[in-house]
Amino acid sequence: MNHILLSVCILSFLTSQVIQNCINKDDEGPSPAFLYTFSGNQSCKAFLIFISQPPYNSVTNISNLTISEPGELARINNVTRKAMFPTNSEVIVPVNCYGQGQYYQSNTTYILKPNDTYFTVASNTYQGLSTCDSLMRENLYHQLNLIPNMVLQVPLRCACPTTNQIANGTMYLLTYLVNWDDTIPDIVDRFHVSTKSILEANGFPDENPNLTPSTTILIPLPTEPSSSETITHHQKPVMSGSFYNSKNKRNVYIVLAISLLIVLSVILAAVFLFYKKIFRSDIEKATGKFSNENRIKGSVYCGVFGQKIFAVKNMSREATEEVKMLKKINHFNLIKLEGVCKKHGSYYLVFEYMENGSLREWLNENKSKDRGSWNKRIQIALDVANGLHYLHHFTEPPYIHMDVKSSNILLNSDLRAKIANFGLARAAMMETSSGELARDVVVTRGYMAPEYGKAGPVTPKVDVYAYGVLMLELITGKDANFIQDGMEELLSAAIVSTMEAKNPEAELSLLVDPTLDGNNGTDVLLRMAELSVACLTQEPARRPTMWEIVSTLLKIRADLERTESFYAGFITF
Ligand SMILES: *[C@@H]1O[C@H](CO)[C@@H](O)[C@H](O)[C@H]1NC(C)=O
Ligand SMILES: *[C@@H]1O[C@H](CO)[C@@H](O)[C@H](O)[C@H]1NC(C)=O
Ligand SMILES: *[C@@H]1O[C@H](CO)[C@@H](O)[C@H](O)[C@H]1NC(C)=O
Ligand SMILES: *[C@@H]1O[C@H](CO)[C@@H](O)[C@H](O)[C@H]1NC(C)=O
Ligand SMILES: *[C@@H]1O[C@H](CO)[C@@H](O)[C@H](O)[C@H]1NC(C)=O
Ligand SMILES: *[C@@H]1O[C@H](CO)[C@@H](O)[C@H](O)[C@H]1NC(C)=O
Ligand SMILES: *[C@@H]1O[C@H](CO)[C@@H](O)[C@H](O)[C@H]1NC(C)=O
Repeated sequence: MNHILLSVCILSFLTSQVIQNCINKDDEGPSPAFLYTFSGNQSCKAFLIFISQPPYNSVTNISNLTISEPGELARINNVTRKAMFPTNSEVIVPVNCYGQGQYYQSNTTYILKPNDTYFTVASNTYQGLSTCDSLMRENLYHQLNLIPNMVLQVPLRCACPTTNQIANGTMYLLTYLVNWDDTIPDIVDRFHVSTKSILEANGFPDENPNLTPSTTILIPLPTEPSSSETITHHQKPVMSGSFYNSKNKRNVYIVLAISLLIVLSVILAAVFLFYKKIFRSDIEKATGKFSNENRIKGSVYCGVFGQKIFAVKNMSREATEEVKMLKKINHFNLIKLEGVCKKHGSYYLVFEYMENGSLREWLNENKSKDRGSWNKRIQIALDVANGLHYLHHFTEPPYIHMDVKSSNILLNSDLRAKIANFGLARAAMMETSSGELARDVVVTRGYMAPEYGKAGPVTPKVDVYAYGVLMLELITGKDANFIQDGMEELLSAAIVSTMEAKNPEAELSLLVDPTLDGNNGTDVLLRMAELSVACLTQEPARRPTMWEIVSTLLKIRADLERTESFYAGFITF
């Protein structure tokens, strides 16, 4: 029962966006569900970006779809009037934009094809340049009464510059459909505009807004856009995908699947509403009303659902981005999100339960299980490195964790490690990128890479630096900031000076965790220390990648196992 409820909660979360699109109410004021708000100027020339997708991949067909002048469309894209555009390439569409009461719009008409709905016309055919709600507003036919060959009035999202924007040199506004691979810095570079003007034009409150694929943004331009500013995307725009050009049988399945999904989500939404209270009280029951006995740490509680124990994090802040990211990641060494439930503006996140708590607690406790084993510590180091390697290279987009530290590494019953706490994680940028990122994040003292305080991009190498500190904690058992002779000292500084000493082995033996098995550890100790010092290199580019760290650790472990079996053999004979 509990599991069903849990999945109901998740499913309704995923599907609600699909229906939501067409149930917004006009009187709730301007929203992305409608067009851009009227701001004073009656009419202007404006531009749209359309992604070329068969059958709308030629000058003729795109200008026909958007009622723009074909000659003008060809000129601005620097092609001939008979040209075809490569699939997924951006096409600039010049339109006339009019203030129409509360909103701006560019009028076009569309002849319905079999199986079209308001939603598919807005999202697939017009790629989000129109919206489901405004189609319903302008066309009085009921959703279910749409039949082929009916003519729909289609308002396209456009806008005219405000007096302020005109004063700042903006001549045109370009309606841009956000694709999966888009970031604000890329768009700024490509269209030669300032970040500030984009933030202002779209009412983004912070410097680093997250762009949502399939929504549109306005780009203020001082001159006409040119074909040199357009690119070809790697992926289709979201939810585009034509219903008419593929084989009929497949279409039937797609349509059936979509109808089924809609019916299912309506039922699920109903079930969800019905059970909402029960589900919440279930979480409360499972965690003993968030009692102190059930508290693991801070706002994390353990809860028993059915036969299984889970960790429930009671988040009082907005966590949409974190949840979105957690749903995308799937790796043994990254903590698994088992369920999520939204309450008033905040969340309950349900995670797998980690029996041995955090790595920091394990290191603090002298009687911890297997505390003296080098093998276990290398395994923990490997687990964390594997998790970070996945995060840096195999998620879409790649992420930087930004908060790697021993209290964010959790250990299960077999002492296998998983990375937790993705609240500060940010989408990664490449080392060659000129943009800046994530300097808003408050990095824990003792783990902060030196470049964090300087200009230039923040790259996955900040995680490598923090990982170096984490390895030192594994070697020494000490905290990243520890007290020595009454003074607070950074573990990273202590180890770097130790390794620079004349006799690092002797110096290291003073720092190493005394509970670690000393028999065959000397060689391992030195190599582990060398590897962590490499991670702490000042110059980010010279730090090893997570993959290099994984292969070095595998070698160290193989050598350790060889000496261990050698000693074992010695004793037997
Ligand atoms: C334009 O679209 C129609 C279908 O609507 C298609 O048959 C035709 O090939 C397209 N023309 C071009 C030039 O792509
Ligand atoms: C252009 O669109 C109209 C309907 O808006 C349609 O009747 C006509 O066939 C289209 N022409 C071409 C060349 O696709
Ligand atoms: C238009 O295309 C031609 C080649 O086809 C190229 O030489 C020219 O620079 C392009 N113009 C612009 C403005 O991109
Ligand atoms: C655009 O369409 C709307 C609704 O169909 C209509 O009221 C308006 O007059 C049209 N605007 C222009 C400039 O054609
Ligand atoms: C539209 O759906 C019907 C079934 O509802 C199917 O028979 C028909 O082939 C579909 N048409 C297209 C063009 O996908
Ligand atoms: C409307 O646009 C013109 C230029 O296109 C500008 O001179 C005028 O100030 C604008 N009016 C308002 C109210 O923004
Ligand atoms: C545009 O001008 C206004 C004042 O007229 C100013 O407050 C605003 O920051 C300017 N925006 C940009 C992007 O320069």
